[in-house]
Amino acid sequence: MLSYRHGFHAGNFIDVHKHITLMLLLESLKKKDTPFCYIDTHAGAANYDLRSDFAQKNREYETGIGRLWGLNKLPSWIAAYLDAVKTVNPDLQKDQNGPRYYPGSPVIARRMLRSQDRMILMELHNTEAPILKEYFKDDPQVSVHHRDGFEGLGGMVPPLEKRGLVLVDPAYEVKGEFDRVVEVLTDAWNKWPAGVYAVWYPVQKKQPVPRFHYDLRNSGMKKIYLHEFSVIPDAAPNRLSGTGMVIINPPWKFDKQIKAVLHWLVPVLDRGSHLPARCEWLVPE
Ligand SMILES: C[S@@+](CC[C@H](N)C(=O)[O-])C[C@H]1O[C@@H](n2cnc3c(N)ncnc32)[C@H](O)[C@@H]1O
Repeated sequence: MLSYRHGFHAGNFIDVHKHITLMLLLESLKKKDTPFCYIDTHAGAANYDLRSDFAQKNREYETGIGRLWGLNKLPSWIAAYLDAVKTVNPDLQKDQNGPRYYPGSPVIARRMLRSQDRMILMELHNTEAPILKEYFKDDPQVSVHHRDGFEGLGGMVPPLEKRGLVLVDPAYEVKGEFDRVVEVLTDAWNKWPAGVYAVWYPVQKKQPVPRFHYDLRNSGMKKIYLHEFSVIPDAAPNRLSGTGMVIINPPWKFDKQIKAVLHWLVPVLDRGSHLPARCEWLVPE
């Protein structure tokens, strides 16, 4: 039984980090005309209403998208991301109180597909999956599966296009999910070593994160780049203090690009940690 609902967290600092990264990776796939496939193993529920009871409970979006909304003179990548959020808020673009709606990863990705590209979404939650299906029901470039994304991925790679990106964005609410991520990724990579894989994980000082990095290093997979940052200064060692992603097969110069993005972004999202982002190859090129 899944209890996590992304509506509580939509638009928080984690979503900002994850969705900017997602956009960078998709943009780089668009440099070639040949089609690509985007696969989202834990897709969530399309758009989120930030005035819903869920979002209003902790108002996490205020220290995420809320910190960027209304800023001017933005670096191009932050501006592109804000444009994506603005397209689901057509009447509120100049509202200084922040956006009403926040787009999830499928909505952000869909906006970036060209006519030759397609995407496959998986979502297990009995409430979220039908919302996602309804949202994309008339879209021939999108297929939505109400199923376990960990189980589904292995049968979907390599996609026909032989080019593309897999986003793995679990809630880490189930014990053993870090191990499951490594296992499923390794299996997918063995079937499709040329795919780009982006995996989100919660940053915390204690296990299981150092173990997760260790397991990835020893998985046999190559070209794994890690970037993470902390914003919550007083988090207990076993509680989330920041946000991290590992990218397998990042595009050329992604390391330089993400360092520049985080150099700008981390101080904007920081809540007193004053820590620089950690950016490094877990397994080098
Ligand atoms: C962090 S949220 C996803 C957010 C979304 N990727 C985004 O960026 O907008 C994680 C989602 O995974 C779903 N989920 C949990 N376990 C799953 C599984 N085994 N397979 C597919 N979806 C799962 C949850 O219901 C939740 O909607």
